[in-house]
Amino acid sequence: MRTEDLHINVDRLMKRLDTLAGIGAIEGGGVCRLALTDEDRLGRDLVSGWMEELGLAVTVDRIGNVVGIRQGREDCPPVLTGSHIDSVATGGRYDGSLGVLAGLEAMAVLDEAGVTTRKPIGVAFFTNEEGARFAPDMMGSGVHQGMLDLGEMLDIRGIDGRRVSDALAEIGYAGSESVGAFKADSYLELHVEQGPVLEQEGFTIGAVEGVQGISWTEYRLTGTSNHAGTTPMHLRKDAGYVAAAIAVEARRLALEMGGTQVATVGVSELRPNLVNVIAAEALLTLDLRNTKEERLQWAEARLNELIEGIVSEEGVGVQSRRLARFEPVTFDPDMIALVEGTAQRLGCRVKRLPSGAGHDAQMFAPNCPTGMIFVPSQGGISHNVAEYTAPEDIRAGADVLLQALIARAG
Ligand code: GLV
Ligand code: MN
Ligand code: MN
Repeated sequence: MRTEDLHINVDRLMKRLDTLAGIGAIEGGGVCRLALTDEDRLGRDLVSGWMEELGLAVTVDRIGNVVGIRQGREDCPPVLTGSHIDSVATGGRYDGSLGVLAGLEAMAVLDEAGVTTRKPIGVAFFTNEEGARFAPDMMGSGVHQGMLDLGEMLDIRGIDGRRVSDALAEIGYAGSESVGAFKADSYLELHVEQGPVLEQEGFTIGAVEGVQGISWTEYRLTGTSNHAGTTPMHLRKDAGYVAAAIAVEARRLALEMGGTQVATVGVSELRPNLVNVIAAEALLTLDLRNTKEERLQWAEARLNELIEGIVSEEGVGVQSRRLARFEPVTFDPDMIALVEGTAQRLGCRVKRLPSGAGHDAQMFAPNCPTGMIFVPSQGGISHNVAEYTAPEDIRAGADVLLQALIARAG
């Protein structure tokens, strides 16, 4: 059979997705596999085992990324695919896992067909893509591609106070492979869209043009606890009120700016968090994103001004800390065209679009030709247990991945 006619086995892929989703399974069909937890470890063991069954040369690097390489006829940098298997605490079963398992599926199909490509092909899962336990996100791929510093990342503490280096050692994934110098021929990642565009417009495949910039900041506000009944409004230093006002201003600003600007306060915690006590402390996070760097910088500056105003008016203290900052990236025109052309050849309706979510691919984009394939997310729902992509769409996306990998690897 000609390699152009090879197809993935969707039943085998769905079975693997199901098995992985059984680890850290939560009510509603989703998963909780926060990075470097026991659930992450079990997921890693499972997927590494599959890599070994496929005869890949598996390595674990110092930040815990796992890469499996299938040899080619030539000894040269591999065409790499992959994604992540960690999740947010209330995650869906497709986010990340699909890209990794579709990469494995592509390898299995090549094995069955007895095909040896000219260049090696690798499949990877990267540590802590989500950033939900340890910020920043895309930590493993960032270190892998020399975008983030290994030492700094190993030293980061998570929301539970645990350090990355300790958590890696605890789960047995503090590997020895060096990082920061890995040369890939190219990188291509399949992922669920996690937004509504493909479904709403009736497309099966997204040829991703790039990823928007991401800015994460944490604010710690310090006010004064006092009695909710006796303290006149003008005498309060209410950290809870300031946290709420920041959330309102962030949303107002994003709506005013329009375009791709989005703003989210995802964490808001008050202390002591009691009905009749003015909050002495508040912890909140702000997630700002835009496809245009200048617009993102403008949003950051404007919000800083607004926050300074609110904070000083109420007389509360504020300490801020940057959790993540990534500029927008654009993908390689040839890789975008490869995804688009492959999808068209396979008879899929394909649309070019930017990614709203962060992805490991964005860490590769400055270093090698990089692209992404999106498949529709039902109702545009993600970071939610109800995340769903239909098996026909998974089949289409994984076939595009297989054929694009073959085209790239020769
Ligand atoms: C990662 O999933 C992100 O976009 O926050
Ligand atoms: Mn993801
Ligand atoms: Mn995610």
